[in-house]
Amino acid sequence: MQTGSLTVVGTGIQLVGQLTLAAQAHIVQADKLLFAVADPVTAKWLRSLNPTAEAIPYNTDRTRRKETYREMVDRILSEVRQGLNVCAVFYGHPGVFADPAHGAIRQAHQEGFRAQMLPGISAEDCLFADIGLDPGVNGCQSFEATDFLIRRRKFDRTSALILWQIATIGNLGFYQEGGHIHGLTVLAEVLQTHYSPEWQAIVYEAAVYYPVCEPVIQRVPLSKLPEAKVTPVSTLYVPPFGPAPLDREMMARLGLGARG
Ligand SMILES: C[S@@+](CC[C@H](N)C(=O)[O-])C[C@H]1O[C@@H](n2cnc3c(N)ncnc32)[C@H](O)[C@@H]1O
Repeated sequence: MQTGSLTVVGTGIQLVGQLTLAAQAHIVQADKLLFAVADPVTAKWLRSLNPTAEAIPYNTDRTRRKETYREMVDRILSEVRQGLNVCAVFYGHPGVFADPAHGAIRQAHQEGFRAQMLPGISAEDCLFADIGLDPGVNGCQSFEATDFLIRRRKFDRTSALILWQIATIGNLGFYQEGGHIHGLTVLAEVLQTHYSPEWQAIVYEAAVYYPVCEPVIQRVPLSKLPEAKVTPVSTLYVPPFGPAPLDREMMARLGLGARG
């Protein structure tokens, strides 16, 4: 095993309060702290915890996000290769919709370094709390919005549906103001064929600066989805469309009576 290691941690979505104690210990003790977080206050706070802290360059001039992600992995590995114990910080859960975080762990393992990821609190976790959604009741399906459309993902409309990255549907590059309307129009059309035009969805934004700010919970009929206020941190939640039918034969096999 090479000297040098990588630990990838997440800050959670809300400022400061959602960081785990384990993640904080790694942040403080790292020989080198690198971070890719969305807001300047968190960046300042990370610098106060570890003076080696440095932002991982996030180049939005590239035509494809993938190229930027590759550069981020290279930046992280360049420190690990120097034999340092590196902690890389991402916002939310570092393994949820976080290509470079997984990429850095894979690359570190390939090069013979110790590497681990610690879980954090994701936007979906905040959604469960803010909207009052228990995935145990009807189940929960979660897709990246472009992937959902281009692969015609099979899903069950009687179960909760969560779609991520609705501001960059069909966009392999970076968010452009107003550039999301076409993708959102296509998504709305497709969803209306499964639900109804009046079916109310929620465009959700967890509060980053809680308790100073409240979460944004924008209820919108699917037919009006393209007119909703959507930002790069919006996530779409479509509630279950009626209860799923029961399989009486299966219930009998499992010894579940009529009263369940
Ligand atoms: C690159 S992913 C990062 C996800 C992050 N790692 C997490 O654990 O939630 C960005 C997407 O996450 C979701 N997201 C990020 N911040 C959010 C927030 N404050 N509220 C709701 N969704 C958010 C949106 O779907 C956004 O397009």
